[in-house]
Amino acid sequence: MASSLDRLSYAARQTARVAWYAGHYAAGRRLLKPMPKPGFAIGPTPSRQEMTADMRALFTREWNDVEAGLFRPPRTLGPEPAEFLRRSLLYFRDLPQVDARRHGHLEDELPPGTQADRLPDYYRQNFHFQSDGWLSAHSAALYDTQVEVLFTGAADVMRRRAMKPIADWLVGRNQRTLRGLDVGCGTGRLLAFLHDAWPGIRWTGLDLSPPYLAEARRLIGRTARVKLVEGAAETLPFEEASLDLVVSSFLLHELPPDVRRSALTEMARVLKPGGLVVIVESIQKGDHPSWEGLLDLFPHYFHEPYYADYVGGLVETLASDAGLRPVAAERAFLSKICAFTRADVA
Ligand SMILES: C[S@@+](CC[C@H](N)C(=O)[O-])C[C@H]1O[C@@H](n2cnc3c(N)ncnc32)[C@H](O)[C@@H]1O
Repeated sequence: MASSLDRLSYAARQTARVAWYAGHYAAGRRLLKPMPKPGFAIGPTPSRQEMTADMRALFTREWNDVEAGLFRPPRTLGPEPAEFLRRSLLYFRDLPQVDARRHGHLEDELPPGTQADRLPDYYRQNFHFQSDGWLSAHSAALYDTQVEVLFTGAADVMRRRAMKPIADWLVGRNQRTLRGLDVGCGTGRLLAFLHDAWPGIRWTGLDLSPPYLAEARRLIGRTARVKLVEGAAETLPFEEASLDLVVSSFLLHELPPDVRRSALTEMARVLKPGGLVVIVESIQKGDHPSWEGLLDLFPHYFHEPYYADYVGGLVETLASDAGLRPVAAERAFLSKICAFTRADVA
């Protein structure tokens, strides 16, 4: 049962995170050129106050779930303070290169070495204008800071909202008998939170990037309960109907339309009857009309070649085409969490 000290500690940690990453964002804006002006009409955008209030409401919802006993208060995950600070420095050192790519429209520098050779072409790009794309240890060390700066400290709480439908679904089930998969697990943050909350479940994290998987292993630590494998979302290396839980956070918008469809079809294929798929993704057109300008601006400011297509076709529709039926949904700040089960099972 969470105490009032737990509540204070949670509130203090979230406030500190938001201040820390908002500070990075503000410092970055001062150091760099103004964002390139869009040469197209954009939809409405929210005020900073509105966004802050929405983020606060999200923290409150998470805390309410903790108090309701759905899961324990989340731990702070991440490197030791010295390494945490080093990563901030790395982030700032790398920013000018990100900015140069942004203003020079460079997004297809391949990293040195032959690592990229067996990867799909669509994958070999500087997503977010980030150095080395997904393809180096340097990029993997920077990624979490970049994402938290982008979301001013709310990325982890958005990922963790996947835990609400999972906690509801787990009622009456024995976690030690269950197998789960995180598709496109990246540096492993969602996986680490899930493992922390339900250590009995046997998880696999799958990603195309060896350096990101290595980063995930460092975060999660050595445990036989979490395997990390190199693989593609569009050809999951699992038997049909073999997994109880399939989760995925912030992957689908990075995929070309046909690959996105295949990834969802694969998630449905590997899911057991009665199992649960939970997707954490960016909101899309129609999800929050008064914020749609942000969806127009995002791919313009950060190299996101498939995002405009992603926001135009609802995840819910794609999932339905893949044979999945919605069971729960929540908008969580700039993301949405959609939970599905197999449509062929009552
Ligand atoms: C935006 S990151 C999201 C990572 C993580 N899930 C998170 O919440 O931060 C996208 C991740 O998907 C991986 N990825 C991209 N395309 C993939 C594919 N076809 N199959 C598997 N992983 C892929 C990338 O390597 C990267 O780690």
